[in-house]
Amino acid sequence: MAKPMVVAIDGPGGAGKGTIARAVAERLGFHLLDSGAIYRLLALASLKQAIAADDQAALVALAVNLDIAFPTQGALAGEVLLDGEVVSAAIRTEACGQRASELAAHNQVRQALLERQRGFRQPPGLVADGRDMGTVVFADAPVKIFLTASVEERALRRHKQLMQQGVSASLHDLLQDMQARDKRDTQRAVAPLKPAEEAVTIDTTTMAIDTVIEKVMALARAGA
Ligand code: DC
Repeated sequence: MAKPMVVAIDGPGGAGKGTIARAVAERLGFHLLDSGAIYRLLALASLKQAIAADDQAALVALAVNLDIAFPTQGALAGEVLLDGEVVSAAIRTEACGQRASELAAHNQVRQALLERQRGFRQPPGLVADGRDMGTVVFADAPVKIFLTASVEERALRRHKQLMQQGVSASLHDLLQDMQARDKRDTQRAVAPLKPAEEAVTIDTTTMAIDTVIEKVMALARAGA
């Protein structure tokens, strides 16, 4: 039997992957995998248990037993749970993002999370966003997109998002954090952030969200 269709969307932080992936999954009636959330959940769990970012053995054990859930129905629909507790906001902090990026550089940690991510590939199909969806996790995906934007624009978007949430942050610090994370994610030895060979790159720096959604929808329909 043919495997369910996958639309793989990769790119750096703040390029709009999450928003676009959610909108496209909704329109197609597909499942959604926010793979970054899994790395962020592992990061949060490691911070809670005071496991060091370089303690690979402890991190792998933690990854294998990680109790996480992404309910799609009921009162908790759309929330992210760790050990049965809602942590949707807690995993979105800059500290958690940086820690996630550090843990994600360990090969064994990535291996431990591989099958968990592949388990999201269920009929009628999946929209998956992350750094290595098209290159590693769903290397056979028929539709691969690399979503990017200038680092200045991505920092601005993140700043705006935080302001809307009532969180004050310095644009300068955000820009520096983003540059550090870009560097770590693109330069790591294992599954580095890069476009898959067949990926279509979309630079969203000056594009409206709706235009990006339409473009991705057209690619998804063409690849289905
Ligand atoms: O997409 P995000 O900002 O939520 O991801 C947080 C970190 O997790 C990112 O800096 C690197 C890591 N990550 C990864 O290595 N591979 C993925 N597929 C998704 C995220």
